[in-house]
Amino acid sequence: MGFAEAMRRGLTQASGSLKMIPSYVGRPTGKEQGTYLALDLGGTNLRVLAVRLDGQGGAATDAASRFVVPQDRMRGEGTVLFDFLADCLSLFFKNHRLDRLSPWELGFTFSFPVAQTAVNAGALLTWTKGFTASGVEGQNVAALLANALARKNLSAISVAALCNDTVGTLSAKSYADPSCDMGVILGTGTNACYVEETQRIEKLNPSLPGKEMIINLEWGNFDHLETNVYDQTLDRASFNPGRQRMEKMVSGMYLGELVRLMVVDMIEQGELLKQKDASAFACPYSVTSEHMAKTFHPDDFFASFGIDDAAGRDGVTIARVCRMVSARAARIAAAAIAAVILRMDKDLGRRHTVAIDGSLYEKYPGFEENMRGMLEELFASRAVNIRLARVSDGSGIGAAVIAAVAAANRPQG
Ligand code: BGC
Repeated sequence: MGFAEAMRRGLTQASGSLKMIPSYVGRPTGKEQGTYLALDLGGTNLRVLAVRLDGQGGAATDAASRFVVPQDRMRGEGTVLFDFLADCLSLFFKNHRLDRLSPWELGFTFSFPVAQTAVNAGALLTWTKGFTASGVEGQNVAALLANALARKNLSAISVAALCNDTVGTLSAKSYADPSCDMGVILGTGTNACYVEETQRIEKLNPSLPGKEMIINLEWGNFDHLETNVYDQTLDRASFNPGRQRMEKMVSGMYLGELVRLMVVDMIEQGELLKQKDASAFACPYSVTSEHMAKTFHPDDFFASFGIDDAAGRDGVTIARVCRMVSARAARIAAAAIAAVILRMDKDLGRRHTVAIDGSLYEKYPGFEENMRGMLEELFASRAVNIRLARVSDGSGIGAAVIAAVAAANRPQG
């Protein structure tokens, strides 16, 4: 089944690899105003922000703190993970001398597949990106956060909105730019969202208000791509075999591992690192996308593994391998963007701004160019109607924007 068909099915009751999750929120108008908190759990990084919206499309970050989620919190008990999130919020209030007793509205960016049932409620379907904390799958993560806030005497904070990072990114960009109708993350994980007409979301109650709603595709789980032996080996050995197949071909968490598997194979075939100590490559996930980016200076790649490649021959080979793996990733992402845009606009007759965030897109040399190249192959001159726009910190700022939208739409009384 192709991507377009999987999208269509995902919007009905039928099950398929694209979940097409309604976010219960449309795009902001740009007129939302006030200061809102954002708690952004993307993966190993956690960010807390206080964002001021000026009501004219302008968003300023008044305070920001970044924390690293320790491995034992990612993989331990769920309550310990959520207590950690609340502790970080406490620290944020302390460090920025903010008043924790006055009422705050918070947008919670939770960058995992969540089956939303309202703008501020939704159950985690399954962990991705190496998280395994117990007792969270199947639970309403907004309620888990609210409970942790209560345990830490932060009850003045109300969880006004729960959103995926793609939805945050789209919302942050479209707060100022109404041509933005798609959000994409290309980082540790990958995913996208877009703006759908509410009446075309068959699986929703047709009486829902609003003409449009942002849909989170969860495209990392798309499973109809042709895989090779390295993709298959990686999947089998992963913590979630059979799931997130597209993510395993595209996102930063996995590209290095694909390269490592190819390197190991080439060493075994006697094609790489002859008579050199290649033991560093025996360890799964020892190659990262940061290492891959170093192949733009060939000798740096092997130097980071303590291997001397003075003759540079192996450097040329590894640079080719990394180019192949990263170009494939970029081309798959761009092809998926094309499919989503064609769903919104089958003739590509108008301008679409795609808000993109994530380290792979931002930092990997040539990634963006490969994506543009693919879009030009697909659409020739019409590709000018697709603008890829880099959005930094969009997932956090967007959560604040969505909290503002949710607060504005909340029934009074
Ligand atoms: C998650 C998505 C998320 C993406 C990017 C994936 O692993 O399933 O919900 O949007 O990573 O962070």
